[in-house]
Amino acid sequence: MCGIVGYNGKNKAIDILLEGLSNLEYRGYDSAGVAIRDKNIKIYKAKGKIINLKEKLENKKLNGTCGIGHTRWATHGEPSENNAHPHISNDGNVTLVHNGIIENYQELIQKLTKHDYKFYSDTDTEVLANIIDYYYKKYKMGPIDAINRTMVRVRGSYAIAVMFKEYPDEIWVARKDSPMIIGKNDDGTYLASDVPAILKYTNNVYYIDNLEAACLKKDKVIFYDLNGDVIEKEIKKVKWDIAAAEKSGYEHFMIKEIYEQPEVISKTINSYVKNDIINFKECGLNKRILKDIESIYIVACGSAYHVGVCSQYVIEELSKTPVRVDIASEFRYRKPLLNKKELVIIISQSGETADSLAALREAKKMGVKTLAIVNVVGSSIAREADYVLYTLAGPEIAVATTKAFSTQLIAMYLFAIELASAKRRIDKKEYSRLLNEIKLIPGKVQTILDKEIKRIQKVASEFYSVPDAFYIGRGLDYAISLEGSLKLKEISYIHSEAYAAGELKHGTISLIENNTLVLGIVTDEEIYEKTISNLTEVKSRGGYIVTVAPKKIDVSKVSNYKITIPETIKYFYPSISVIPLQLLGYYIAVSKGLDVDKPRNLAKSVTVE
Ligand code: AGP
Repeated sequence: MCGIVGYNGKNKAIDILLEGLSNLEYRGYDSAGVAIRDKNIKIYKAKGKIINLKEKLENKKLNGTCGIGHTRWATHGEPSENNAHPHISNDGNVTLVHNGIIENYQELIQKLTKHDYKFYSDTDTEVLANIIDYYYKKYKMGPIDAINRTMVRVRGSYAIAVMFKEYPDEIWVARKDSPMIIGKNDDGTYLASDVPAILKYTNNVYYIDNLEAACLKKDKVIFYDLNGDVIEKEIKKVKWDIAAAEKSGYEHFMIKEIYEQPEVISKTINSYVKNDIINFKECGLNKRILKDIESIYIVACGSAYHVGVCSQYVIEELSKTPVRVDIASEFRYRKPLLNKKELVIIISQSGETADSLAALREAKKMGVKTLAIVNVVGSSIAREADYVLYTLAGPEIAVATTKAFSTQLIAMYLFAIELASAKRRIDKKEYSRLLNEIKLIPGKVQTILDKEIKRIQKVASEFYSVPDAFYIGRGLDYAISLEGSLKLKEISYIHSEAYAAGELKHGTISLIENNTLVLGIVTDEEIYEKTISNLTEVKSRGGYIVTVAPKKIDVSKVSNYKITIPETIKYFYPSISVIPLQLLGYYIAVSKGLDVDKPRNLAKSVTVE
């Protein structure tokens, strides 16, 4: 989804806006634009990545100290300069940038056309500029009145930053469902879709809630509710540092974030395990609450959903608590049958994914308790859930998640163990055995990063031009195959499918021919022979088999190429086997010369339906 940024202060706004947009580019890169206020408002837009806008601005003298900017992920209207933001009202009275979707924009176009408004773009956003202008002129009650009337009138999701011609030293903002944070330091006030955009300038931020607005002046921020009354907001400190949002010498954020996994996995373990005891006190969960949970419903999107699929196996086996897992965009409209003794767990890196947020609200509407596993502090899902377990992956910039995925797995393992213990399904000895093994995961991930890179690069260099690939496994190996396959698809654009190994012969095996690349994940000692026989069926049709397995599992009869991973307890293999799968996706994409951090058509946080 789009990224918006704004600054109002003592310094030249253009530098701060371009820096912010570069840090937000993972949210969308179809076009970009800025509006700088000097004597009047100057607007510059360019199709494509931020670099195109920077080139356009090279010799421009932009000394204005107030401005807004936007990087776009196109939803309404093709990627083009005309559809790029900022958009303006017919007479230029209102200039704005927007992240989100206005669902009733067609209806509003008809309304405004009756009042002689004309439209130059195909976007839903241009409607916002004109409807604000319409209320501004009709009621003559100033910016807050016009914005509040607009919030009542429009349907959809939005985070907007607005400049009014008659209010030179002010930027007005409002939001509903799309993310926005507001920052402040001695040099001015800032707004952004996400923390990394302004972390270089300040880590003092305000969280603006849904259907609230604010006026950013050069030295202060004034917040308003929907009645136009001033409301007080507490400034909060963000614990992330700017280094975390930079590449630190790595070629891509993705490979940097893959190498950060041992550290962030340790951080997440240490934030919940004190003196060999799991402690969820900070998030309000305790053994009494856990003991009464009759069943669990995990809901998420994309890779976060894959964490849910892995967790189902672990939670059910350890705590004997039934678990259902669902894709959020299906859950929210299929009227799920929930009972009050159930816990709905929402997993989300960004904490802003629209379908996951809606699923959370659906569960709350049904009076069911919700637990959020989230990486971004203060995000919408974190603020609206009953309980929140934060993962400590730090800012994740690459669109393809890696370190956040790994910390979500850890959070779910700890949850499963604590639930099993609260339900007396495991004794103290097993509790410690499991915890001790979890503490070894960072070291085992490091071992793969130290020892297996060359072997993985070799597979990538031999197979980067394949038309398609298959990932197969059983149980948790099948669950992690889903993630391996998604990693390859989303950054290398190679068509890939993950399959439960036993399911292949019911149809898909017809796609296997000479040299078809098949990744076999084989870690589970109880069922690996079954997977081996499925791989044998693939091999006999000419498939080229790359296996990911620990040393003790003999795959020599079927494997053309083995990537060896350290041993662990069966529940925790997803944390180990996912690493070579992340790396394979990465090196294949690099071999194809693709933009690994910003894959086509994707965005880091999907804040629209
Ligand atoms: C994964 O690499 C993708 N970026 C995507 O599938 C992602 O997992 C999904 O959009 C969910 O995002 P969230 O965790 O921020 O909710």
